[in-house]
Amino acid sequence: MMDDIARLREKMNTTFIEDKAGLERFRQDFIGKKGCIAHLFETFKQLPIAAKKAIGPALNGLKNEAEKKFKSAASALEVVPPPAIQQPVDVTLPAFGAAIGSLHPLTIVQNKIISIFQRMGFNLAEGSEIVGDWHNFGALNFPENHPARDLQDTFFLQLNPAQLLRTHTTSVQISTCTAQSPPIRSIAVGRVFRNEAISARSHCFFHQVDGMYIDTAVTFSDLKGTIYHFVEAMFGEATKLRFRASYFPFTEPSAEVDIHCRLCQGKGCTVCKYAGWVEILGAGMIDPNVLTNCQVDPEQYSGFAFGMGIERITMLLYQIDDLRLFSENHLAFLRQFRGCLGFSDAAVFAK
Ligand code: DAH
Repeated sequence: MMDDIARLREKMNTTFIEDKAGLERFRQDFIGKKGCIAHLFETFKQLPIAAKKAIGPALNGLKNEAEKKFKSAASALEVVPPPAIQQPVDVTLPAFGAAIGSLHPLTIVQNKIISIFQRMGFNLAEGSEIVGDWHNFGALNFPENHPARDLQDTFFLQLNPAQLLRTHTTSVQISTCTAQSPPIRSIAVGRVFRNEAISARSHCFFHQVDGMYIDTAVTFSDLKGTIYHFVEAMFGEATKLRFRASYFPFTEPSAEVDIHCRLCQGKGCTVCKYAGWVEILGAGMIDPNVLTNCQVDPEQYSGFAFGMGIERITMLLYQIDDLRLFSENHLAFLRQFRGCLGFSDAAVFAK
């Protein structure tokens, strides 16, 4: 029997399985129920115990080798699927939608403010963010030792300390007024800088709109009418407002304008600090000294001016409670303004 096993092993080793039919033949000849190995096992069963002990391992070994050879041949013959057929590009399919961004909330509100004043005949004036002391302070009637000129409040350029980052867009009044002659009706919009600690309520840069109207016989009533219209167009018809006496070096008399708190309807809340009113802008009649500094004769002309922070107006409009959100580029915040592509307050514009 050991000879039979050896012969069969040799036959098995020299059998070359080249295709699936060969594989099936090998299975039938060697490992099938009627194959040679099964046949040897039939004979094996009848052997005496001692012979079984001697022959068993060799017979089992043969059986294992046959199964191993079958398995490896089967997996070698496993059909490799043909490469997936490349789908042709269907040029008629609709294209992927383009990702649409949004305007920054400050841009939306800035455009809204510009639009309201342009409708009242104001031109847009441009000014530099870096100016000298004269434009930011001197010509605007700030006294020589005014604390705003302090290093603690204003950023001066290191390389040229005579130049500074403007602390307000009121500086544009000086360049516009010097370059043009009345009547002048203009607004200036842009970034301003102050040496302030960054918090929810203050920042080292923010945005302002500053406006002025200079002509013969411009009065405080003109200022009031202009601001009334602005507040109505910006915050809605029913918005209550008040003028409060105040002080600015460049206006006389000066006022601050408050509107009824939109959040609590004037009842008092944390936004208005329980006052019921929130300040939105500063204004006044242009001080005669300022007109003189711009070579405009205060005997012949008068004018009003006003200035407001765009962040403040935006925070009130959209109920935003942290100034830092405007400059930190959180997409979750900015995406909320998707679709607000400008001033779409049709009810106001329809008027
Ligand atoms: N420049 C002032 C500020 O930054 C705001 C201001 C107040 C501007 C009164 C004006 C004005 O033109 O008339 O706080």
